[in-house]
Amino acid sequence: MTTPYFVFESPEAASRKVASEIATLIRERSAQGRSAVLGLATGNTPLPLYRELIRLHREEGLSFRNVISFNLDEYIGLERDHPESYWSFMHHNLFNHVDIHPENIHLPSGTVAADEISDHCAAYDAAIQQAGGVDCQILGIGRTGHIGFNEPGTPATARTLLVHLDEITRQDAAPAFGGIENVPTTAITMGCGTILEARKIALLAWGAKKAGIVCEAIQGPVSEQVSASFLQNHPNAAFFLDQEAASEMNMDTNNN
Ligand code: F6R
Repeated sequence: MTTPYFVFESPEAASRKVASEIATLIRERSAQGRSAVLGLATGNTPLPLYRELIRLHREEGLSFRNVISFNLDEYIGLERDHPESYWSFMHHNLFNHVDIHPENIHLPSGTVAADEISDHCAAYDAAIQQAGGVDCQILGIGRTGHIGFNEPGTPATARTLLVHLDEITRQDAAPAFGGIENVPTTAITMGCGTILEARKIALLAWGAKKAGIVCEAIQGPVSEQVSASFLQNHPNAAFFLDQEAASEMNMDTNNN
């Protein structure tokens, strides 16, 4: 099996497409008096998507008042207001610029006590269930093939959990932290099992650096070594790529 993928001329063009699908979901739910539950990612990849969602809010009246959000992950050891925490990232790049209710924003805690982590993870999964499950999950992909922080070896069934970050993942984060020695070694992430329960999944990837792992995830074997390959078994998942990220794909196999 392969996961469907769509290739766009630029990250901005791909992001406009995904943002318009999210806007349709939010508006349809709003018209029904219901919430829209979004699963959100951090990192460089979703930045053009968040810029477009902010534009839709400012210029086209898209309201986030009925949105409930659950982020994928958070570093252990960072206070919310640490500049590299995912809490800070999301507020800086999206939440502070739209009308989402603060009480509808959910991220795992980076400062939960060690002996409370497993209860915290179970409560995070329970909160997602209680919100009705994720309607649309946004993902990036790490060079290790991770989704969330599900590094190689994490099983497809994992629920939200504490993970050790791969050395490659920590190297990729090092510039933002001013050196690898400052990058946390652990994080809490939605597990693959939690992620795969989303009704719809959009994985975004840009640039030549991601081309090899994108190709493996879409066309390679489904394997714990590349957690993004689990999307091949999801009924409504797709990759949104720019031309560089799609450059190693065998185009004959695109099933769209
Ligand atoms: C972020 C996350 C990660 C990133 C991935 C790609 O919340 O869970 O899986 O999506 O590491 O990061 P960027 O987008 O910075 O290349």
